[in-house]
Amino acid sequence: MIVTLASRKGGSGKSTIAINLTLVLLGGRLKQNVALIDADEQRSSINILKRYKRENLTIYGATIDKPNRPSDILKTINTKNTHVIFDTAPHSQEMMYECALKSSLVIIPVQPSLLDVDALEKTIKALLTIRTLAEEGQIQKAPECYFIINRAKAGTILAYQIKQQLKKMYPNFPIMKTVLGEREVYKQSLFTGQSVMEYDRKSDAAQEIKNLAKELNGIYHKGK
Ligand SMILES: Nc1ncnc2c1ncn2[C@@H]1O[C@H](COP(=O)(O)OP(=O)(O)OP(=O)(O)O)[C@@H](O)[C@H]1O
Ligand SMILES: [Mg+2]
Repeated sequence: MIVTLASRKGGSGKSTIAINLTLVLLGGRLKQNVALIDADEQRSSINILKRYKRENLTIYGATIDKPNRPSDILKTINTKNTHVIFDTAPHSQEMMYECALKSSLVIIPVQPSLLDVDALEKTIKALLTIRTLAEEGQIQKAPECYFIINRAKAGTILAYQIKQQLKKMYPNFPIMKTVLGEREVYKQSLFTGQSVMEYDRKSDAAQEIKNLAKELNGIYHKGK
């Protein structure tokens, strides 16, 4: 599968999810190849993942110019036997659009705050443009696009309220069942360059990331 983490809202959790998704796919029973393409010039994902050399993982940095645009890099990867994860920047509509256009799945992390929901307009606009291209037959298929609630705090109803708001505003964009909690281990694990599973396999965060991978696999195989 080719997955883009997309949101024009800064700090929503794109890189955190990209890193953990990359490593959970890599560590799965099937020992699949994974390519992480960091399309943010800040290179957050690369900076964390480069600390360990991992078999079957290739890391790329994309730029807005040829020959390293996301689509140029994608052409060099055998996507039949490699999962690809695009981590995108909050400030570039063009890069996000290109990554999403080439993807089978797009995940949009949303923090449980109305300010975050209000900031989704540009992201959704790009994804709707891609859907229109598919409807007009200009591309084969638009990616499946899902919101994921990230940084939900235990014991509050905010995540529920935000889900209701998302359903109202964007009824054609489903919300993933998996919710990621606000957990220190998501931050702690970065210090060691590890995923939350590697850092503490018994943590709630590790379970959440496994659930995320499982749910994504299900969506991907259903949509094929
Ligand atoms: N579920 C979580 N629990 C605790 N902290 C989190 C969680 N998700 C993200 N964070 C923290 O929130 C901050 C922003 O996350 P991250 O860098 O992944 O977002 P981003 O969308 O990639 O940001 P940018 O738009 O700047 O690229 C980081 O400090 C990260 O460690
Ligand atoms: Mg980031």
